[in-house]
Amino acid sequence: MSKEINTIGVLTSGGDAPGMNAAIRAVVRTALARGKKVKGIMRGYQGLLDEEIVDMNKASVSDIIQKGGTILYTARCQEFTTAEGQQRGAEICKKHGIDGLVVIGGDGSFRGAQKLANLGINTIGVPGTIDLDISCTDYTIGFDTAVNTAMDAIDKVRDTSTSHERCSIIEVMGRHAGYIALWCGIASGAEDILLPERYSHNEQSIINHIIASRKQGKKHHLIINAEGIGHSTSMAKRIEAATGMETRATILGHMQRGGSPTCKDRMYASIMGAYAADLLCEGKSNRVVAYKDGKYVDYEINEALEMKKDISEYEFEISKILAR
Ligand code: ADP
Ligand code: F6P
Repeated sequence: MSKEINTIGVLTSGGDAPGMNAAIRAVVRTALARGKKVKGIMRGYQGLLDEEIVDMNKASVSDIIQKGGTILYTARCQEFTTAEGQQRGAEICKKHGIDGLVVIGGDGSFRGAQKLANLGINTIGVPGTIDLDISCTDYTIGFDTAVNTAMDAIDKVRDTSTSHERCSIIEVMGRHAGYIALWCGIASGAEDILLPERYSHNEQSIINHIIASRKQGKKHHLIINAEGIGHSTSMAKRIEAATGMETRATILGHMQRGGSPTCKDRMYASIMGAYAADLLCEGKSNRVVAYKDGKYVDYEINEALEMKKDISEYEFEISKILAR
């Protein structure tokens, strides 16, 4: 039997992502429009355990759709991975009358949401991460802004790389996944794109490629290296020694997580946030919102966490053709 929800809580958890504010705004305004009360939980699960809980109204989410980061702040919380922490979290939700909760974050945050759902708090996950590494969904909030930010930065490195006729290794984020690297690599016309999912650790083939391109008269050589491979600085030293081409490493770092969200991120975040609030209003729990094959859908959290996805083989093959 589905439970009627009176008060919806919302939190952001794990790494922040541009568009999270748009998602928070959509949760709050949709819940209010459906006649529910809304509470914001600050600093993810840590803030839940610390009872940092605030009432939210329409004005609480005014003027935030264009802002990067998350107005609710975010955190990683070790205590919440324990059974005691989860039990305390569920009790705090009940104490504050929160009977439905939207968790905006990645797979780790969804595992926490699943635990709360099992303890009687109706919980829905919304995919928010720049890494695009959530298997159940083709889109994660923040990815589009992050790849555009990284692409702009790579274009700038390219200018100086060409002027000095250098090789540049640019390291982009993505944790263990290569989606950011693949997109930025193709979009910036990189000569080599190194993805953790496909990397052969054959540095000699990169070196041979650089030497062959130099012979063809190329003025620079851009290598996009994913964080999951890393070691860009030592790689640059080895490549310079082997090719004689001056080589610099640039690690883009956290600038990729900031900035005003793109239209695409605001749009997906708005619809996904609203969809999550509506699932709670329908009495649903233990589900994740996703965008799959052109449609907004939802999956049971366990099913979502068991799904697998991988870099597209065709996109990877074409990335190599276009780079040569
Ligand atoms: P993301 O949500 O981006 O994958 P993390 O993996 O860092 O980020 O997870 C965010 C938070 O979710 C963790 O700090 C922790 O509080 C909570 N979490 C992660 N895994 C679990 C788990 N197995 N059980 C309960 N909570 C978890
Ligand atoms: O998950 C988003 C992400 O930015 C990853 O790309 C990166 O590996 C990680 O978070 C960095 O985390 P932190 O902000 O804790 O350094």
